[in-house]
Amino acid sequence: MTRLVYSSRHRDLQPETVDDILEKSRINNLRDGITGALIVSDRSFMQLLEGERDAVAKCLLRLLGDPRHDDIRILCAGDAEHRLFAEWSMHLIQTSGIKREILSRYEIDGSFAPEKMTQAAIEDLCKVLSKDDWEEIAA
Ligand SMILES: Cc1cc2nc3c(=O)[nH]c(=O)nc-3n(C[C@H](O)[C@H](O)[C@H](O)COP(=O)(O)O)c2cc1C
Repeated sequence: MTRLVYSSRHRDLQPETVDDILEKSRINNLRDGITGALIVSDRSFMQLLEGERDAVAKCLLRLLGDPRHDDIRILCAGDAEHRLFAEWSMHLIQTSGIKREILSRYEIDGSFAPEKMTQAAIEDLCKVLSKDDWEEIAA
C-alpha cells in the first residue's frame, strides 16, 4: 500500500468546485480502491491518498493536470502498512472545522501552510485527523 500527501494552491474556490471534486473523487476512488482525505483551507488543499501504488500514481497524474489547483508539491510518499482513512473514499476536512488547539500546533506564522511543514508534522497531522476527536463542535 502506498500513502501520498501533496499540497496545492487554489484561487477563488467556490463551494460548487469542492462539491464537484468530492463527487468525482468518491466515484473514482471507490472504483480504484483509493481512500483518503482532502483538507481545505482558505488558500490551499492538502490531500492524502492511500491505495495500491498503481492506482495512487494514476490518480496523481490526473490531479497534476487539473486546472482547479496549481503549485502542487509532494509532501510525503511511501509504503504504509495500513490505511488511515479506510472508511472514506474521500473525507472532506475544512481547516475551519478543526479544533483551534489542534490546528494551532501545525500552523506556521499563524497560518496553515502545509508546504512549509516538515514531513514528521504532516504525518502527525494526518494521524490526528484520522481519529475522531479533532472536530470543532459548535456550542
Ligand atoms: C484538490 C483536488 C483533489 C482531487 N481528488 C481526486 C481524487 O481523490 N480522485 C480522483 O479520481 N480525482 C480527484 N480529483 C479530480 C481529478 O483532478 C480529475 O479531474 C478526475 O480524476 C478526472 O476523472 P475522470 O477521468 O473520471 O473524469 C481532484 C481534483 C482536485 C482539484
